[in-house]
Amino acid sequence: MCGIVGIVGNVPVAPLLVDALKRLEYRGYDSAGVATIEGDHLDRRRAQGKLVNLENRLKDSPLSGTVGIGHTRWATHGVPNEVNAHPHFSENVAVVHNGIIENFRALRDELSADGYVFTSQTDTEVVAHLVSRGLKQGLGAVEAAHKAIARLEGAFALAILFKSETDLIVGARNGPPLAIGHGEDEMFLGSDAIALAPFTNRITYLEDGDWCVVTRNDVKIFDINGAPVERAMQHSVGSALLVDKGNHRHFMQKEIYEQPEVISHTLSNYADFGTCEVRGSEGLPFDFAEIDRLAISACGTAYYAGMIGKYWFERYARLPVDIDIASEFRYREMPLAKGDLAMFISQSGETADTLASLRYCREQGMHIGSVVNVRESTIARESNAIFPTLAGPEIGVASTKAFTCQLSVLASLAIAAGKARGTIDAEREHQLVRDLTEAPRFANQALKLEKQIETIAHDLARVKHVLYLGRDTNFPLAMEGALKLKEISYIHAEGYAAGELKHGPIALIDENMPVVVIAPHDRIFEKTVSNMQEVSARGGRIILITDEKGAAETSVKTEHLIVLPDMPEILTPLVYAIPVQLLAYHTAVTMGTDVDQPRNLAKSVTVE
Ligand code: G6P
Repeated sequence: MCGIVGIVGNVPVAPLLVDALKRLEYRGYDSAGVATIEGDHLDRRRAQGKLVNLENRLKDSPLSGTVGIGHTRWATHGVPNEVNAHPHFSENVAVVHNGIIENFRALRDELSADGYVFTSQTDTEVVAHLVSRGLKQGLGAVEAAHKAIARLEGAFALAILFKSETDLIVGARNGPPLAIGHGEDEMFLGSDAIALAPFTNRITYLEDGDWCVVTRNDVKIFDINGAPVERAMQHSVGSALLVDKGNHRHFMQKEIYEQPEVISHTLSNYADFGTCEVRGSEGLPFDFAEIDRLAISACGTAYYAGMIGKYWFERYARLPVDIDIASEFRYREMPLAKGDLAMFISQSGETADTLASLRYCREQGMHIGSVVNVRESTIARESNAIFPTLAGPEIGVASTKAFTCQLSVLASLAIAAGKARGTIDAEREHQLVRDLTEAPRFANQALKLEKQIETIAHDLARVKHVLYLGRDTNFPLAMEGALKLKEISYIHAEGYAAGELKHGPIALIDENMPVVVIAPHDRIFEKTVSNMQEVSARGGRIILITDEKGAAETSVKTEHLIVLPDMPEILTPLVYAIPVQLLAYHTAVTMGTDVDQPRNLAKSVTVE
């Protein structure tokens, strides 16, 4: 999603804006731009494509202003070209925007009737003209901005720059995040703390409906009626973490490799590895024993983590779970019971559909729990109980370590819920926790398969379609595997429950269709073997990911066999995620796609 940066500084800010935008690249974008005040006029440089294009523009034709705004755009209204790239201008005003202005058509008609000429296809341009009209009507800059913001409907984060004000940026937030960074005799705005990390770790997050007046030495925050509001300044922990690729070729690869460590880190937050007990549910604002149903919703990879969580909560805690894609849940008018638990899973903690579902459940009087990777995020702040994943910043658009950390949290919580509800005894609890403590070790062993998987990926890079099959918790993992592959390699892939094969997808099987089967030797391994036989009989090419027992016992001819060590059942989705991720990663690398920032995708989706 779009990224915003603003600096009221003392040196030329264009290069600093571009550096900050680079740290927002992970959100996904297709064009970029910066604007600064150049003497008596506003000037901007914009470019389609990657930030290097913008940098080249700036090299040829630098900007020298000491106050400026910058933007990476992920196209919603209008194609990704230079004309639609932000900042958008209207005479004395420049605007950058993240989100969607829902009433932009009505505003555009009104402004056009007033003589304003639109040069882009974006919804954002109305904001620039609205502010500009206020100035023409004699309002001061801050007043004109406030009046314009009050007219906007929809989701937006904004930064507004004025030609005549060399010590001012106005920011606003209604939906997508916006943070103020406090410096010494300089001030910053940014979509998140990562963007502002090199400048400051003193951060104030705006809340929905807030707008702010930022000058070199002062920040004032107001609500939409113009009444001043206080928002706490925090010391961001995220910003202290270094965001670079280390020795890895891509962030995605680095993040895959970080998994043994971050899984261990996350698990130790929820379980005591010494006593083999879960940290339990004391201190939670709800009691798992009192809950009749759990409603989980999330998007993308986080949704698949939630699906796996459903198996665990139902198996270990006998707690019925409804799992929904957040964009469906929010409009589905499902009956929800007051006092039940709603759980939201989100790496970014900012996904618009997930947040809307959270708010819907809150209105129904449910307890709100969230599994988030960004503790300062909106979803975290609006929850009664936060279950953090300790994955550290995830930069690759395709989620990897956040997913396995989400699984670590959900597995631990399912055990805690089982303990609270009396469905597992102390012995079972200790066994399950002991099993979980082995996850980092097995994850390490899974990483050792990289070379073999790279070879298999060379084959996969030549095909057009891939089918992924799994049963039980490995069924959602099959869907996650398909999602990973299509996200970064652009190969069409589908994940199916292995038992569902014969109800449709089997029609697709021929010698051109690789089928990735995720099948540890578990209670239902034999059933999956039967499904593989169905594939094999139709000439399908099987890539089997299994364990030593499974490899020894399968009679079916496989094209490739990826063998993991035998491991406890609860660990399989966590550990099998790694070969699945590596397969997608190396296929994409072989094909030469932009692995960390795949086309059309955004890391943090703050619009519907
Ligand atoms: C985007 C990303 C996905 C991610 C999904 C949910 O679509 O590309 O990788 O799984 O959003 O994001 P969240 O931050 O809520 O986990």
